[in-house]
Amino acid sequence: MSSTPDFLALRREQFPVTERYIYLNHAALGPLPRRTADAMAAFATDFRDRGVLAEAKWTPAIERTRGLIAQLLHVAADEIAFTKNTSQGLSIVANSIPWQRGDVVVTIRGEFPANVYPWLALRALGVQVRFVEPRNGQIMIDDVRQALRGARMLAISWVQYSTGFRIDLAAITALCREMHVLLSLDAIQGVGVLPLDLAATPVDFCAFGVQKWLLAPQGVGVLYVNRAVRDLLTPANVGWLSVAWRDYAAFDYESPLMESAGRYEEGTRSLVGLAGLEQSLQLLLAAGPVHIAAQVAILTDRLATALHERGYRILTPLLANHRSGILTIAHPHTPAQILFDRLRVRRIVAAIREGGVRISPHLYNTLDEMDAVVEALDTVTVTS
Ligand SMILES: Cc1ncc(COP(=O)(O)O)c(C=O)c1O
Repeated sequence: MSSTPDFLALRREQFPVTERYIYLNHAALGPLPRRTADAMAAFATDFRDRGVLAEAKWTPAIERTRGLIAQLLHVAADEIAFTKNTSQGLSIVANSIPWQRGDVVVTIRGEFPANVYPWLALRALGVQVRFVEPRNGQIMIDDVRQALRGARMLAISWVQYSTGFRIDLAAITALCREMHVLLSLDAIQGVGVLPLDLAATPVDFCAFGVQKWLLAPQGVGVLYVNRAVRDLLTPANVGWLSVAWRDYAAFDYESPLMESAGRYEEGTRSLVGLAGLEQSLQLLLAAGPVHIAAQVAILTDRLATALHERGYRILTPLLANHRSGILTIAHPHTPAQILFDRLRVRRIVAAIREGGVRISPHLYNTLDEMDAVVEALDTVTVTS
């Protein structure tokens, strides 16, 4: 394994956000690293000054970035399509499968709505949606097994957005294989902070936006379609870039769709977004997903231990193989809004989710910042 990165140097050089805030809200939106923002600014200047002539310089960023995503997920680049967000990726999957009346899609109660509405919309086709109820924030594998009886698809988040509960992907992928159920993974709350190896734990579909833990701009998403199920789908979103491109003088309307997942990229992509994403991916891959996850676990452990000792309720199930970058806490007597305000006045950026305060640090945060959170939460708000 590569050596541990110098997280403090990265913090200093790449994360100006740390000069103003204790930023602990990557589960909502990641700040852009300096190199990402710089690349996007250079892009803007180049297109300002040269218009279409700037395209040739920046277009190669598309395939380079696709290659970096493939490296991050341990899949082939031709299984990766760029979308505009998680929702679009999930919608492409939902709308491209030839459903039959009575088909069942299983999902989880408490999923972020982006991973619910595309499946509920299939009710119009006679598809049923079945919900698994988590128990105390935990998704029990036996409950999933029960719900999957006779189902066609499991649509699940890798990490639940409010509790931070991470499913055991090895167990879930094995279960779906055993039960001949398709698996669609919303990975937005994990990719960038936790290692994801889709060669070791194969899913059929995986969708995510890059705006959170990948520290990249809004408006770019990724859809992975496992080559093994490619022909099951009839793409619902074809366009001029879904077919192999030749030239502007020779459109052949009968051209077949591209073999690759590029067939889902129906038209012009966000080149500025991809140029930014390329930089963020290089930063994260150089740091190493395994090291990043270990660092973030140190930070969330420090917080969880200190807050537990002080009587806070830890809403995130503290099970080693279900932890993520998210720690959600509550206090038995103090409302989440008050806790949140105590953080806010100290320029600590967190979020309120489902009655708790969600804290989501990343690789550049420090133990001192975790201690500052505990101190801020301990402060009794003076109201007059
Ligand atoms: C689990 C999950 N899926 C999806 C999204 C966002 O979806 P999109 O990228 O389409 O905006 C979020 C967060 O906002 C989320 O937590």
